Amino acid sequence: MIDKYGRKINYLRISVTDRCNFRCRYCMPEEGVRALKHEDILSFEEILQFVKAVAPLGIERVRVTGGEPLVRKGIVEFINALSKINGIKDISMTTNGSMFKEMSKELKKAGLKRVNFSLDTLKAEKFSYITRRGKLGDVLEGIKEALNLGFNPVKINTVVAKGFNDDEIDDFAKLTIEYPLVIRFIELMPLGEGGWAKGRFISAQEIKSKIKSDLIKVENIEGSGPAEYFKLKNAKGFIGFITPISRHFCEKCNRIRLTADGKLKPCLASSKELDVKEVLRNNADMEQIQKAFGEALSIKPYSHNMKYDESTDYEETKRRMWQIGG
Ligand code: GTP
Ligand code: 5AD
Ligand code: SF4
Repeated sequence: MIDKYGRKINYLRISVTDRCNFRCRYCMPEEGVRALKHEDILSFEEILQFVKAVAPLGIERVRVTGGEPLVRKGIVEFINALSKINGIKDISMTTNGSMFKEMSKELKKAGLKRVNFSLDTLKAEKFSYITRRGKLGDVLEGIKEALNLGFNPVKINTVVAKGFNDDEIDDFAKLTIEYPLVIRFIELMPLGEGGWAKGRFISAQEIKSKIKSDLIKVENIEGSGPAEYFKLKNAKGFIGFITPISRHFCEKCNRIRLTADGKLKPCLASSKELDVKEVLRNNADMEQIQKAFGEALSIKPYSHNMKYDESTDYEETKRRMWQIGG
């Protein structure tokens, strides 16, 4: 489907849960997170019904997100059912990696093609600090397993924060020499737990300047996301930059989101939403679901105005990152 600004929308991000076993400081508060009630979350059957209805409209790629998608029971069977839907060509997942190793083979068998891991530091102590609950070793093992099993590409999402991990940028970049990984540096967005992130924004330009070797520009690699890609000389992998703040990529946006509580969210940074749970729970037929999808597309804004102004918090969307899935 083409939206009114001429953008081809072929990519659906499904957040299957708002729960997470980590509490990353830029994302979630430590205590007091009220998780959605079971009945407020779309069942896997409802999500599958939705995807079956929108695949004929041109949705070809699906990314499963959270919170942490692997904490939801039945996720492997869900991926398997997704992979059988006509027209769905690419199924990917964004995960914190903590539970990936134990589930990796089943996920592969179920039809998961690509996986993106969140990893902000290569130092065990800092990892426990930033995630508040995670162990670096678990994630590193998950990443190794993903490479061994032939998931391709395996991407690492590294959110860069001043004074936290800006001293590790070159170490992350160098990983691409030995491993066929795609390391992507992400500008911190004001969509998470506000306090910790204050004063920590670093632009992609500054991040680039901390990489000691030359960056060679490459054309887009497999994926449909917003990163710009480079590589180091003789490297097996790639380095990407995601610049939601310093350079919008809205004109090329190809996506729409479905939240765990059944809202269609046409833009990550906008509060505009359309309730599709109501539709699905009222015995909707395919046409009614497609109509709701069309309505959600019609309210997709041309661009966001997210900025990192230290004096004013960005309040356009009331949802926080773990409730959107990135
Ligand atoms: P690929 O298909 O592998 O390229 O995935 P992706 O980069 O779209 O997905 P991922 O979940 O790994 O997201 C990486 C980062 O990009 C996260 O910080 C997301 O929040 C951010 N991101 C993804 N989509 C959008 C978007 O539409 N707008 C903005 N501003 N950021 C986005
Ligand atoms: N800014 C930028 N990226 C974020 N993510 C979570 N919160 C933020 C934020 N405030 C990233 C995670 C994950 C992806 C889905 O979004 O690191 O990799
Ligand atoms: Fe969980 Fe991802 Fe948020 Fe970290 S960034 S708390 S792993 S949802």
